[in-house]
Amino acid sequence: MSPAGEGPLPTSMRTDRCGTLDAADAGRQVALCGWVARRREHGEHLAFVDLRDRSGVVQCVVDGASELRSEFVVRVTGTVRLRPEGTHNPDLDTGEVEVGDCTVEVLNPAEPPPFPLTDRVDADEVLRLRHRYLDLRRQRMQRNLEVRARVSSALRSAMERHGFLEVETPLLWVPTPEGAREFVIPARLQPGSFYVLPQSPQLAKQLLMVGGLDRYYQMARCLRDEDLRADRQFEFTQLDLEASFVDQGDVLDVVSDAVLDATEAVTSERPEAIPRLSWSDAMERFGSDKPDLRAGPELVELGAVFADTNFRAFAGAPCIKGLRVPGRGDLGRGRLDALTDAAKGLGAKGLVWLRVGDADALESPVAKFLSDEERAGLVTALGAEPGDLVLVVADERRTAQTVLGQLRLDLGRPPVSEGPYRFTWVVDFPLFEGLDGQGRPIPAHHAFTMPHPDDLDRLESDPLSVRSQSYDLVLNGWELGSGSIRVHRADVQARIFATLGIDEAEAEARFGFLLGAFRYGAPPHGGFAVGLDRLVAILAGEDNIREVIAFPKTQSGVDPLTGAPAPVAPRLLADLGVRVLPPRA
Ligand code: AMO
Ligand code: AMP
Repeated sequence: MSPAGEGPLPTSMRTDRCGTLDAADAGRQVALCGWVARRREHGEHLAFVDLRDRSGVVQCVVDGASELRSEFVVRVTGTVRLRPEGTHNPDLDTGEVEVGDCTVEVLNPAEPPPFPLTDRVDADEVLRLRHRYLDLRRQRMQRNLEVRARVSSALRSAMERHGFLEVETPLLWVPTPEGAREFVIPARLQPGSFYVLPQSPQLAKQLLMVGGLDRYYQMARCLRDEDLRADRQFEFTQLDLEASFVDQGDVLDVVSDAVLDATEAVTSERPEAIPRLSWSDAMERFGSDKPDLRAGPELVELGAVFADTNFRAFAGAPCIKGLRVPGRGDLGRGRLDALTDAAKGLGAKGLVWLRVGDADALESPVAKFLSDEERAGLVTALGAEPGDLVLVVADERRTAQTVLGQLRLDLGRPPVSEGPYRFTWVVDFPLFEGLDGQGRPIPAHHAFTMPHPDDLDRLESDPLSVRSQSYDLVLNGWELGSGSIRVHRADVQARIFATLGIDEAEAEARFGFLLGAFRYGAPPHGGFAVGLDRLVAILAGEDNIREVIAFPKTQSGVDPLTGAPAPVAPRLLADLGVRVLPPRA
């Protein structure tokens, strides 16, 4: 990415930005504004003052700078000159030049910052957030927000190029059935009634399709009251989109184009076309519905190798899967026991590990239970080499997949933000992800997802075998977004609600406004939402989306800067008709 603020930006106060000066500017008279990043004495009167603005830093040589302190806001006028031979600073974009003969005007003094504003120091998280306005002055944060703006702009351009219209949807809304807990806002004019902040514009965008808007997009704020993690905040932003008269392939094409554009806008390189994996292949090959394609070898089916085994743990198992971990045959007994415990913690009955030695000899407490053919077949099936570690799980298919999938990540996954960028589509998700306590199917996406046409006749008889027309976009093992083709026909929607155990009265009460709209000519439609924060974090090289949000919440959901959330005045509560109960013990 090229530095910010290229090109001239003369204002009444400054002629240039600090980080843009180079040898071509030598001899020019300039006026710069910014913060004192550092002051180094140079002889009795002279000092080197590093002046910082958003574009970067430039060294100013100042006579009589003794009153200047870190983070003072100053205006410097002087002449750009080449630095003497041997004093170039290769770490600075402006390292070939300095500003000499400076006159400094202090625009505002500053107290010493509570932590150093350099990228080398990692200050305490809460301290950083309490003084976020200072934290934001650091180059890392400036760059992250610049990446964010760049990604956002590239996504918008792509959407507009594809004929999508930007439409805003309400924040004061009603519950949206997407599975997360919702933030609730008391309605002053209807005491006892509440607005709900949208988990996403899902229902609104479907109404826009009924409204003939055809192709909609929005950089949508979404709010979900869920446990915060590296990839989750209460408030986040989606590139949300919906289109009419499209099929799944059309949606995938548009979203692919947009995210590849955004990636290229940051890295100057366009990743290759995004591969498409079926959900069942993703589970078979990676043991995950959000596979990290970078994390080493895929899982391998070993049923054929052990078809006639006498080894008790494998005999008769519904599924036997293996994983090769390149070069990790050196793991000690303690680590291997911990892996076995981890596998059991994830639900496996056990874990077999084998170290591959010279001439493909296998070292393992269970090697003696395997025949020569089985040992050779295992090495061949996995393509194992001397020095590798091999892990095997025999279990129900889903357990074998997910356990080895997790161990594959634990042992081979680079940080999410480390290149290369490996996008993948996961398509053909099951419509339901399992059964709830009362034996009713749980929707894997949401209740408005269109079943796969080939599976529709099994909706009632065998719901768990029905695939849906839903799809996820995955980048380096993070779910970047999801979407689906929606149900637009009242008869299909009624069958889905019935399968979910939602009767007509309940459907009417919860989604009556949507179902009502669908009676007036709903076009076939589908869409998608990309998690902007996640995409930006990965492209900015950050492992936590907090680092790419100007004012995020901490892990425990508070903002140390403003003190939010905070009690409000009793009068305000009275106006809202709200009484606060004592905290639950
Ligand atoms: P979904 O709930 O999968 O789908 O959300 C889409 C994407 O939004 C991002 N995301 C989050 N990012 C940060 N913090 C969070 N708490 C958070 N929750 C979700 C993820 C996720 O993949 N309405 C549907 C989309 C559709 O069907 O069109 C929806 O919201 O990157
Ligand atoms: P056991 O006979 O139960 O002591 O198991 C012998 C070895 O096989 C131990 O290392 C177990 O962790 C492993 N093991 C047991 N069951 C399984 C299984 N279903 N899949 C893989 N390994 C297993």
